[in-house]
Amino acid sequence: MQNSAPLIWNDSLMTGVPEIDEQHRILVHTFNEAAEKLCGETSREVLEAITQDLLGYALYHFETEELLMRDTGYEAEDDADARRHLAEHRDFSTQVLAVRDRLKAGIPIPPHELLVFLNNWLVKHIMHTDMRLAAFILARRSSPT
Ligand SMILES: [Fe+2]
Repeated sequence: MQNSAPLIWNDSLMTGVPEIDEQHRILVHTFNEAAEKLCGETSREVLEAITQDLLGYALYHFETEELLMRDTGYEAEDDADARRHLAEHRDFSTQVLAVRDRLKAGIPIPPHELLVFLNNWLVKHIMHTDMRLAAFILARRSSPT
């Protein structure tokens, strides 16, 4: 689906893990702010600032999730899924860095292209990959071993 409309924070995005949900809420807010700025202003400086903000917060958030994976034993329990999850985080960072490299090289990026990528990645990652991790964390917390 090609979508760059504002992301509405709703129950379908809630994982049930408070620290993850709080950071996702901020990520969605950051995305919506970016989408709003890109509607009116599309200078290279604005795009650079937006991608820097998003990447900075995303990296902080990925670190939180990856620590939770280690601390709750997710990596030990389902190594294949943990690796897939980490690969998605790396892929996001690589793609945003590639966008920043293009901007630095003076290659224009259509704002719509950036928004579609961010929107699709966030929704797909939260609703599938993060949900699997969250289900594991919640089960661990409700019956610790
Ligand atoms: Fe994640």
